[in-house]
Amino acid sequence: MMNSSHWENTYSSKAVHERSWSESGISDSLSELIASEISKQDTIIDIGGGSSTFVDSLLSDGFEHVFVLDISRTAINEAQRRTGSMGTRVSWIVEDVLAWKPLTKFDYWNDRAVFHFLIDPIDQRKYVDQVREATKSGSHIVIATFSPNGPEACSGLPVQRWSAQQLSALFADFCTVVSHTEYKHVTPWGSSQSFMRLHVKRN
Ligand SMILES: C[S@@+](CC[C@H](N)C(=O)[O-])C[C@H]1O[C@@H](n2cnc3c(N)ncnc32)[C@H](O)[C@@H]1O
Repeated sequence: MMNSSHWENTYSSKAVHERSWSESGISDSLSELIASEISKQDTIIDIGGGSSTFVDSLLSDGFEHVFVLDISRTAINEAQRRTGSMGTRVSWIVEDVLAWKPLTKFDYWNDRAVFHFLIDPIDQRKYVDQVREATKSGSHIVIATFSPNGPEACSGLPVQRWSAQQLSALFADFCTVVSHTEYKHVTPWGSSQSFMRLHVKRN
């Protein structure tokens, strides 16, 4: 189980440019969403969205039903402050993804650099159960983790690195693979991290 105090401390003690996962400019989660051709009325959730700017792009592109969930209140406050009046249209949720009781069936589930912190197979199974609970037939699920070529830790915590094959096996009994992409994220201090992004569609 992950620890909310770690994330509260991290967001309150490190500025945006001191967090390895901060992106310069538009979030790399956006390209996959655009490729999925979902509609502006579809319901989107960014799991462990933190203070990612993905939500800013969704709001300015006119998506109407946007949710951001994160275990850290500090991160959500930061995103709320940044998005200002546009952000009042977002459903902000402070919860542990594993403990949360989803009340909505989402059309699009996005996770960038959150699932990889679940290193216990029991937690990984719980996460997949949450995906099953919170999505429906036709929903898109997009998960980006460190790839086998990526770092072994993130934010000082150990992570599990995933190949496309290993990651897609978790969803094989209820989803079909749309695409998988290995790509590089460049941290604010210029080091390169290899990510694996898997996009599956629920059968
Ligand atoms: C590496 S950061 C990535 C943040 C964001 N997805 C992005 O791409 O900028 C990991 C995020 O996951 C959140 N997080 C960690 N464990 C979580 C959990 N069990 N439930 C919900 N959020 C969690 C953290 O607070 C943090 O915002």
